[in-house]
Amino acid sequence: MNAPSEAGTPDQYGLVGHPVAHSWSPFIHGMFAKATAQNLVYRLFDIAPDDFRRETLRLFASGVRGLNVTVPHKQAAAELMNELTTRAARAQAVNTIAFFEDTTLLGDNTDGVGLICDLERNLQLELADKRVLLLGAGGAARGVIGPLMERELRTLTVANRTPFKARKLAGEFADMGQVVGCTFAELQGPPYDLIINATSAGLQGEMPEMPAGLVGEATVCYDMTYGRGNTPFTLWSRSLHARLTTKGWGMLVEQAAESFFLWRGIRPATQPVLKALAQHA
Ligand code: ATR
Repeated sequence: MNAPSEAGTPDQYGLVGHPVAHSWSPFIHGMFAKATAQNLVYRLFDIAPDDFRRETLRLFASGVRGLNVTVPHKQAAAELMNELTTRAARAQAVNTIAFFEDTTLLGDNTDGVGLICDLERNLQLELADKRVLLLGAGGAARGVIGPLMERELRTLTVANRTPFKARKLAGEFADMGQVVGCTFAELQGPPYDLIINATSAGLQGEMPEMPAGLVGEATVCYDMTYGRGNTPFTLWSRSLHARLTTKGWGMLVEQAAESFFLWRGIRPATQPVLKALAQHA
């Protein structure tokens, strides 16, 4: 870890993505910093895909010590790193970068641990032996498959608009259990125990067309995207009377706490932030 900055000069962190304006990460890391008495600032950096490499390296050269990475850069970030943690290497996707004084860029992926923590601890869901459907095969989906499979699911189905990517992703994790890749149209019942939306379709106000029979009265629907009110995915699951429809606020806060730990060596409490978000968001 880097030595702390001189007193008075806050250490710089932030989020790179496209878009990022909707992000609550500055609020979350601001609360963590206050609660743990860490002198840091956390900013948003909107970087278009073509500029990702150059602009991200420029941020580190200018003194930034750590970045979170969001849509659509998680896979490009994995390629930029000098080192990857085991879980980031497995995912080939990075959502957290730490920049060290010897100029090493270390990539980690805290999405999976964030999701599992929210599902198990905050929502009290049991994952073992469940049939799970994951929508999307981009950087967000990559980060959560390994940690989900470690929970000994009965099956994981990865469905994606571009079927090649779903099949390729399923193949990468086939050593961990039964993972199948397919198109949305190929999906069929019986209803899944858990459906997780890891597409970025909601950012464009869209929900992919889904066949009937995927949601039953026991199905839990989890939208990894978040925002105020309903998303196209939560509207879909509510219209089908899912047992529980929820958005990824808990995952967002839990993955942020893991990133904060990587950067600062201190694990902040998440419950106060979750409570504050429930009031603000
Ligand atoms: P992220 O880091 O959020 O995963 P990404 O790597 O750009 O971002 O991946 C976006 C995912 O959302 C992909 O699975 C993408 O499907 P494709 O692989 O077919 O591109 C999916 N996605 C984005 N917009 C979508 C839409 N309108 N309908 C369905 N899927 C969509």
